Amino acid sequence: MKTLAIVGASGHGKVVADAALSTGLWDDVVFYDDAWPAKTRNGNSAVVGNTQSLFDLPQKPEVIVAIGNNKIRLAKQRELVNAGFTLATVVHLTAVVSRSAIVQAGTVVMAGAVINADAVIGAACIVNSNAVVEHDCILADAVHISPGAGLAGGVVVGESSWVGIGATVIQLKHIGKNVMVGAAAAVVNDLPDNVTAVGVPAKIIKS
Ligand SMILES: CC(C)(COP(=O)(O)OP(=O)(O)OC[C@H]1O[C@@H](n2cnc3c(N)ncnc32)[C@H](O)[C@@H]1OP(=O)(O)O)[C@@H](O)C(=O)NCCC(=O)NCCS
Repeated sequence: MKTLAIVGASGHGKVVADAALSTGLWDDVVFYDDAWPAKTRNGNSAVVGNTQSLFDLPQKPEVIVAIGNNKIRLAKQRELVNAGFTLATVVHLTAVVSRSAIVQAGTVVMAGAVINADAVIGAACIVNSNAVVEHDCILADAVHISPGAGLAGGVVVGESSWVGIGATVIQLKHIGKNVMVGAAAAVVNDLPDNVTAVGVPAKIIKS
């Protein structure tokens, strides 16, 4: 019996659980969340402890962090690695990941997503449902590509950036760190660190 521990009993956690179970690599999932013991279920699965209970386990299970906030997800993942946990990488059964792509630890690739040839996906990323990451893209750690978003070939995305639902980025553009690309935006120019950009074509509205 192989059980995956998921940190974060949120809506995102439910989808990570579905993706993990679709693979057949784990027989069961359990959640750890600081809302325990008030919260004991997330979807079909049990919340069995808080994050401290996970750290206190005598035998460390394989673990993945399902926290939507990019920076918090990365920080929690690094804490787990430092404590000696093995991170799972979850790729939904229906996702298509090129044999030449690299997907690093703690990343989740949701249903229908496509990661094409020679793309490199960092640690603790989310490539969400039906997102497309084309050939030669490079995503740093803790990047989130939202459902239905598309990155054309050779796009580079910096750490903890978030590409919103249905947004697109044309080929070879560079998106900095901690950037928010709004829902349905079309990015046609490079974006510097720490900005929010929205619209078609995407314009910076916040720095
Ligand atoms: C870009 C975003 C983060 C901005 O959120 P915010 O910082 O709270 O900004 P506000 O809602 O105050 O909007 C600021 C302005 O930008 C406009 N705006 C916000 N999001 C926009 C978008 N996606 N496209 C076009 N304009 C947008 C607002 O209408 C507002 O315009 P105004 O000043 O003329 O009234 C948010 O709207 C967004 O698109 N989030 C993506 C959500 C997503 O992808 N979820 C998927 C989860 S898996």
